[in-house]
Amino acid sequence: MTSGVWTNARILTMAEGAEPIAAGAVAVERGRIAWVGAEADLPPDFSDLPVTDCQGRWLLPSFVDCHTHLVFAGNRAREFEMRLDGASYEEIARAGGGIASTVRNTAAATEDQLVAEALPRLDALLSEGTSSIEIKSGYGLSIEAEIAMLRAARRLAGLRPVRITTSWLAAHATPPAYKGRNADYIAEVAIPGLEAAHAAGLVDAVDAFCERIAFTPDELRPLFDRARSLGLPVKLHAEQLSNSNGSAFAAGYGALSVDHIEYLDADGVAAIRASGTVAVLLPGATYAIRETQHPPVAALRAAGVPMALATDLNPGSSPLASLLLTMNLGATLFRLTVAECLAATTREAARAAGLLPETGTIEPGKSADFTLWDIGSPAELVYWIGFRPAHTRIFRGEIA
Ligand code: NIG
Ligand code: FE
Repeated sequence: MTSGVWTNARILTMAEGAEPIAAGAVAVERGRIAWVGAEADLPPDFSDLPVTDCQGRWLLPSFVDCHTHLVFAGNRAREFEMRLDGASYEEIARAGGGIASTVRNTAAATEDQLVAEALPRLDALLSEGTSSIEIKSGYGLSIEAEIAMLRAARRLAGLRPVRITTSWLAAHATPPAYKGRNADYIAEVAIPGLEAAHAAGLVDAVDAFCERIAFTPDELRPLFDRARSLGLPVKLHAEQLSNSNGSAFAAGYGALSVDHIEYLDADGVAAIRASGTVAVLLPGATYAIRETQHPPVAALRAAGVPMALATDLNPGSSPLASLLLTMNLGATLFRLTVAECLAATTREAARAAGLLPETGTIEPGKSADFTLWDIGSPAELVYWIGFRPAHTRIFRGEIA
């Protein structure tokens, strides 16, 4: 049933500036939102459609997780133990662990294995009202292995009711064969691989890791230039461990988002404000690597930069498979308000993923992606820690 009317709901549409609707209804036609408003105002046009009584539950747009590394093989529980013993994330990375260790596992896995290992993590995200997920490559670091990751990511959308977008993150780390030759890696692997993956329809955006242990803006310029000439949007892991001026560089390409940004300075804030780039905050990574430097939330807020929250689900810096917990971390660690957290996982996350015309708010014309919650107020979605009061998730008008 992709057409129907959902009645007796308390609705937060998450459209810019919208007030809650106390006794609301949503009309869905062929999987798209046809109408939303107070039930008393429901136009007669929809009277032939089947009706579902939401029994007073809260109804919000389903969540968008706009930054994940969901597809990978193995895990890094051992490095977690090393960090508990005092090693830092950066030290482990420099010693050949970190991203490189997941690359060894992922490059050795078949595409079927990648899908099988990703599915339980995907199911965890979906179980708490998430309907759209961005998934990056970045643990292959060869043309073939990067493409296999994105093929696995695309396959997940055929196995579960979910919308998947993909990002080409070959510039995540330098593989051993290219040690000390970042420019060659970009020219010989990241760019030709992007061209091949794009030709195969596997790429929705181009991402990179800009950091002293990864790539500099100068090294990334040819990659981003190629993305631009292919008509692909860019985004960037920027200012996570240090200020490398990656955000201003990405803003110069009209980036969809800059992500992490713990070390973003005032010039960086001004640059992303001018380009309309979303600040994607990843408190799971801040928490898991015990980073004490937090993103400049007050400055971002004052500048009016849109802020999104995402899990950054990955085996190293953020083994976090919950957007509800991400919102709680965003509020508690970064002092986002409840309203900011809710926008950060719906409207602003959709904007960061390039999906705002399609999802992220409940507005006529968009995909009917919403979730019913057993809660007394929307603040409960941010407040609980490890409690998941999702009742029903509707994806493209159908119960998922
Ligand atoms: O978003 N910062 C770089 N990339 C990932 C970490 C990946 C890993 O540790 O495996 C991140 O935090
Ligand atoms: Fe990441």
